[in-house]
Order: sequence, then C-alpha cells, then structure tokens
Amino acid sequence: MKNILVTGGAGFIGSAFVRRMVQAHPEYTIIVLDKLTYAGNLDNLLPVNNAPNYAFEQGDIAHRDVVQRVLETYDIDTIVNFAAETHVDRSILAPDAFIQTDVVGTYILLDTARQLGIQRVHHVSTDEVYGSIPEGFFREGDLLEPNSPYAASKAGAEMMLRAYHVTYGMYTTVTRGSNTFGPYQYPEKVAPFFITEAIDNRSLPLYGDGLQVRDWLYVDDHADAVEVVLQKGAPGAIYNVGGEHEMHNIDVTRFILKVLGKPESLIKHVEDRPGHDRRYALTNDKIRAELGWQAQHNFEEAMTATIRWYQDNEWWWRKIKTGEYLDYYKAQYAERLANAGSG
Ligand code: NAD
Ligand code: TYD
Repeated sequence: MKNILVTGGAGFIGSAFVRRMVQAHPEYTIIVLDKLTYAGNLDNLLPVNNAPNYAFEQGDIAHRDVVQRVLETYDIDTIVNFAAETHVDRSILAPDAFIQTDVVGTYILLDTARQLGIQRVHHVSTDEVYGSIPEGFFREGDLLEPNSPYAASKAGAEMMLRAYHVTYGMYTTVTRGSNTFGPYQYPEKVAPFFITEAIDNRSLPLYGDGLQVRDWLYVDDHADAVEVVLQKGAPGAIYNVGGEHEMHNIDVTRFILKVLGKPESLIKHVEDRPGHDRRYALTNDKIRAELGWQAQHNFEEAMTATIRWYQDNEWWWRKIKTGEYLDYYKAQYAERLANAGSG
C-alpha cells in the first residue's frame, strides 16, 4: 500500500479519514477523487491543502474515463470508497442520484480497478443495509433488509463488492458504520442540523414521537476503524463498526439543547419520515475479536466538543445554509413545520 485513492474525500467522514492519513502517514500518498456535490466541501480539506503527500481531483466515480485517468496518473494501488449520496430524506424525495453514484459508481470503480489490476478496495457502508431491529444486535451474517432508497443503494454496492471478490478474487473489505457525528458534517444530518438551528433559536423538526433509536459513533472512531480494516481486514470480509451508544432521537435532541442552554420548546414533533427505521443496533464482536478495534470516544464528551465546534466555526456552516440548502429545507420541512405539534 503506497498510493491510496480516497473517493468522497471532501465529505464529512472521508475528509476526517484524509486529514488523519495525510498527517499520520507521510509514507502514503493520498489522492482524493470527489465530484463536489452539494455535500462535498474543499473547506473540509484545508488542513491538508499544502501537504506534500496529498492531491485533489474533482470528478465522478461513475465516469469510467475519469476513474481510469486518476488511477493511472497516480499509480494507485489501494482504493477507499467513501463517495456516495448519503441522506435518507433526499433519497426519498429523489432516488436517482443514489442509484447512479452508490450502485453504478461503485461498480465503475471496481471494474476499472479490476481492468488495471488493482486488487485492494475498501468500501464504506452503513448499518442501514440491515434495516430495523426491534431488539438485540445485528451481526455481519444477518439478512439485509434495507428500507430506504439510500439503504437499498448502499446494499446494492455491497453486493458488487462481494461479486468482485468471489468472481475476480479482488481483495475487498466492507465496514458498516453506525450514525456518525462530529465536526464538518453537512447540516442536513440530524446532529449538525439541530445544533445549527438551535444556535439560531429555530424550531427543531423531530420526526414522529422521537423514540427512534440510533447508535452513535464519533467521526474519528469511524475513520480509525476504516484505517484498521484497510491495514488488517481479511479479504472479502465485512465488519460492523458501532459506537456502542444507543440513544432515542429525542434524548440526542435534549442533550444538544442542554449543552447550548436552549429551551426544549424549540422541539416540534412533525410528520414522520416514510418507512422510518425504528432502531439500528450492531454488535462490534467481530471487529473487536479479529482486529482489536473499539471506539475510543465517550458520547457525552465527543458530542459536547462537536457542539462547541459548530459554535466556534460559523464560518464553515453559515455559507452552506444558503442557496440550494434553503430549497431542500423548504421541500423537506416547510409543510411539516406548518402542521407541527410541540413537545
Ligand atoms: P457526505 O455526504 O458528507 O460526503 C459524500 C462525499 O461524496 C461528498 O464529498 C460528495 O461530493 C462525494 N460524492 C458524491 N457523489 C459522488 C460521485 N458520483 N463521485 C465522486 N464523489 C461523489 O457523506 P459522509 O457522511 O461523509 O459519508 C461517507 C460514506 O460513509 C458514505 O458512503 C456513507 O454512505 C457512509 N456512512 C455514513 C454514515 C453517517 O452517519 N454519515 C454512517 C455510516 C456510513
Ligand atoms: P439522519 O441524521 O438523517 O440519519 P439516518 O437517517 O441515516 O439515521 O437522522 C437520524 C435520526 O434523526 C433518524 O431517526 C431521523 C431523525 N431526524 C429527525 O427526527 N428530524 C430531522 O430533521 C432529521 C434530519 C432526522
């Protein structure tokens, strides 16, 4: 492993992985390929901009000519695929881009790598491929029952990884991470959305009763798990990556309001997300036993530090919450909030 292509490296988790790898591993060259969709942001990569072992290329993983050029130009031997359309609510409003990037894009990446003889591909997937679990914890061999177009597209991508491992003998690995939070997260996901709305004393639209459960993972722990699996994961293997910190959405929301010193009257219970998964929960038994990985960050401390980061870095998020963001906000929330109840 020497020249590593990181797709989607201008996004939230991809950029955390790039910042970490560039700074901790001068022996690797890190090349980012990113389309710079609404979610891609070069500000996320400012800390590594001038590093000698880093380069950025704008382009689409679903375009074979682009992928081939980048793989050849930088003599890439390892690929880490973070690139994806990632927001469940957007996948409900408009699924096309999800199929195109998450399924077709992953296929083009794999197939171009295969043609050039590049064996090593790590794919960043999600716990959402399993669907909802009322009690207990998902294990890696469990049935996949994805419920949103986003989750289905991520499951489709995983199936391509499997096929390229079994059929062509490529050295693929997959991580299924849980709900990730931290600095530089696009403010459509619930944590940065609610934090930045609450800073401005605006309503927080909580879907349904707010008793849905998510498992929360700090972004540096997620990036760390990807690195560990990249270094030591077995060919063809899949690893759950959970934060081992389950919370009801309403309790995450209350925690954010408490740290910010804002009133709970900002919470508005709004019409639920269609097909909303009630609970996600994973066991980390496999990654812990086989690779010795476990999350290092405590939820309360990491979420408090994250909230402080958004308070201290308005330069980063205020300019995002303009233009297209406002169109999306209107489509997703205007009617819901107009019909909202308080909580
Ligand atoms: P993000 O939306 O912040 O970033 C996605 C990045 O991919 C952006 O920089 C975007 O420009 C880029 N991209 C999109 N389409 C592209 C294309 N066709 N070609 C090249 N680049 C493209 O996402 P994130 O939250 O950082 O998630 C990264 C990965 O981790 C995704 O694969 C996601 O499914 C997975 N994941 C996310 C979470 C989470 O809680 N955020 C949890 C588990 C897994
Ligand atoms: P989200 O950040 O979209 O992640 P995911 O759907 O991938 O888990 O949402 C996290 C949880 O918060 C999910 O149960 C939906 C809920 N949620 C709200 O209640 N209101 C919102 O405005 C958003 C964006 C999410």
